[in-house]
Amino acid sequence: MTRRTVRIAMNGVTGRMGYRQHLVRSILSLQEQGGLDLGDGSTLWPEPVLVGRREHALRAIAEEHGIEHWTTDLDAVLADPSIDVYFDAQVTAAREDAVRQAIAAGKHIYCEKPTATSLEGALELARLATAAGVKHGVVQDKIFLPGLLKLKRLVDGGFFGRILSVRGEFGYWVFEGDWQSAQRPSWNYRAEDGGGIVADMFPHWDYVLHEIFGRVRTVQALTATHIPQRWDERGKPYDATADDAAYGIFELDGGAVAQINSSWAVRVNRDELVEFQVDGTHGSAVAGLRNCRVQHRSATPKPVWNPDLPATEVFREQWQEVPDNDDFGNGFKAQWELFLRHVVLDEPWRWDLLAGARGVQLAELGLRSSAEGRRFDVPELTL
Ligand SMILES: NC(=O)c1ccc[n+]([C@@H]2O[C@H](COP(=O)([O-])OP(=O)(O)OC[C@H]3O[C@@H](n4cnc5c(N)ncnc54)[C@H](O)[C@@H]3O)[C@@H](O)[C@H]2O)c1
Repeated sequence: MTRRTVRIAMNGVTGRMGYRQHLVRSILSLQEQGGLDLGDGSTLWPEPVLVGRREHALRAIAEEHGIEHWTTDLDAVLADPSIDVYFDAQVTAAREDAVRQAIAAGKHIYCEKPTATSLEGALELARLATAAGVKHGVVQDKIFLPGLLKLKRLVDGGFFGRILSVRGEFGYWVFEGDWQSAQRPSWNYRAEDGGGIVADMFPHWDYVLHEIFGRVRTVQALTATHIPQRWDERGKPYDATADDAAYGIFELDGGAVAQINSSWAVRVNRDELVEFQVDGTHGSAVAGLRNCRVQHRSATPKPVWNPDLPATEVFREQWQEVPDNDDFGNGFKAQWELFLRHVVLDEPWRWDLLAGARGVQLAELGLRSSAEGRRFDVPELTL
């Protein structure tokens, strides 16, 4: 087996996503398995170079995982011709400038969503990367989750008949930070720092809906800041200026209507932190991150509305679990593998910066819809 090395500058690895999902669960996990088998007698060895602002934090991660290269000098790492890929999982507000710089330096780009804080910025990145001829991609991890892969399998297999509606419920209680520390970074709750649940989650809903059911044609949303004051990482109170809940309705190509609630101010009474119920003429399904349950039309009960009597059936027990029938790895890692194959083997890839811009577009239109009390068409984006 010959071994090829791909050197990846990873910026934002001290953060939640950068560290756990991208560095540890994806790149270091690929190393643990001996690299990525390219299937042509060669193996691709991903070599991370950690990039960030805080020297001590980078050094600690490098030492813990035996990573040789790390730096606080982004310019220097981008000027290094041995670096092939620039990866960005920084706070959203810092992404656009850094990605722009990396494109100018001729690096292939892979980054977290949202790709920028405005549609204009996101489209510009897609245009610049395409013009520079570099490969580019955006993280769209949810469609690589077992639950949604099973849902996609049901759609592809024609299980639903005509799909009528999708009801998504996402969220959990994020502590305010006063008497119990918050479990998400405080910038998420400040609009001026790129926060807000619409900016965070609508890019996910865009590709989930697009990939599984059809392109989003219109959006209508109502946002709220249910918790107006929170406490930051240092225990200091701050004004939560960003939306922490969004109630959205999306019309899809093919005629289905999707309605998705996203909230950091909701307590979980579900099996998973996100669930989608899909109803079709021939059957229905409820999919979460890992599991997916179905009910076929032939097994559908016939409830009769009678508030004078207690429920006569245990409805939740009438659903059937969809089997795995597959080994599902970590979704982030699965997408990294496809991206690296795209970079070195030129294999097909569709989750590019234009797809990333589509997510930013949906978020931007969602916020406008709420501010103006209107429903908006979602125009198809081109470069
Ligand atoms: N794909 C997903 O499911 C998913 C989930 C959560 C977050 N995200 C995205 O990942 C990105 C990072 O989110 P996170 O939750 O890991 O955030 P985080 O606050 O935990 O990490 C942010 C990282 O950015 C760095 N950074 C650079 N400039 C900074 C600045 N000016 N202020 C603060 N930190 C700065 C930090 O050092 C840190 O490494 C965001 O763009 C977010 O939208 C994606």
